[in-house]
Amino acid sequence: MKEVLILYYSHTGAVREMARLVARGVEGVPGCAARVRTVPRVFPAGHALAPAAGSPEPDAGPPPAELKDLEECIGIALGSPTRFGNMAAPMKHFWDSSGELWLKGRLAGKPAAVFTSTATLHGGQETTLVSMMLPLLHHGMIIVGIPNTEPDLTTTASGGTPYGASHHGGGAGGRPITEPERKLCIVLGRRLAEIALKLAG
Ligand SMILES: Cc1cc2nc3c(=O)[nH]c(=O)nc-3n(C[C@H](O)[C@H](O)[C@H](O)COP(=O)(O)O)c2cc1C
Repeated sequence: MKEVLILYYSHTGAVREMARLVARGVEGVPGCAARVRTVPRVFPAGHALAPAAGSPEPDAGPPPAELKDLEECIGIALGSPTRFGNMAAPMKHFWDSSGELWLKGRLAGKPAAVFTSTATLHGGQETTLVSMMLPLLHHGMIIVGIPNTEPDLTTTASGGTPYGASHHGGGAGGRPITEPERKLCIVLGRRLAEIALKLAG
């Protein structure tokens, strides 16, 4: 069984829910299993190391990712909430620690996909998705998006983009994941797993 890594950060649970759906898409591909991991929070200097309510601390959710997870899996789906139109700092912090793998080209040629959640519909879903692609491209990874052959991509009135899966969560996360958003998360996971299996031979 080959594994695809679902690596996410989530503070209030929206991206965690998306990660479950992307994992479901991966698991739907025969021969593929999802390895779900999160990244720990980061704290400004002087802040107490206390978990915030709803945050996915390692003991409350999937284990924290290690660099070997990136190496061992045949593909990676990366998820983060939008923070000022960008990926969240904990996710960036994790990738900033991956220089050793980058120098050795360990991830080059593997496929990767991205997903995000925002409070507002036009609050930076696409810029966040692209921001997550940048370290992946530097690592030599092959970006997998969502093609227009997926009907939900053109009819959705909520999230869902060609760049990756997205969710419009509303203020205080008041909007549940819509049916098109749900389906496109699963589609993304499935497509990533299918391509990863082909590339892995
Ligand atoms: C510091 C900070 C910055 C944010 N920046 C944006 C933003 O630029 N655009 C937006 O629509 N939402 C923004 N949000 C809202 C989150 O992206 C949104 O609530 C997301 O659904 C949270 O995902 P989570 O439940 O997985 O943590 C921001 C939230 C925080 C705390």
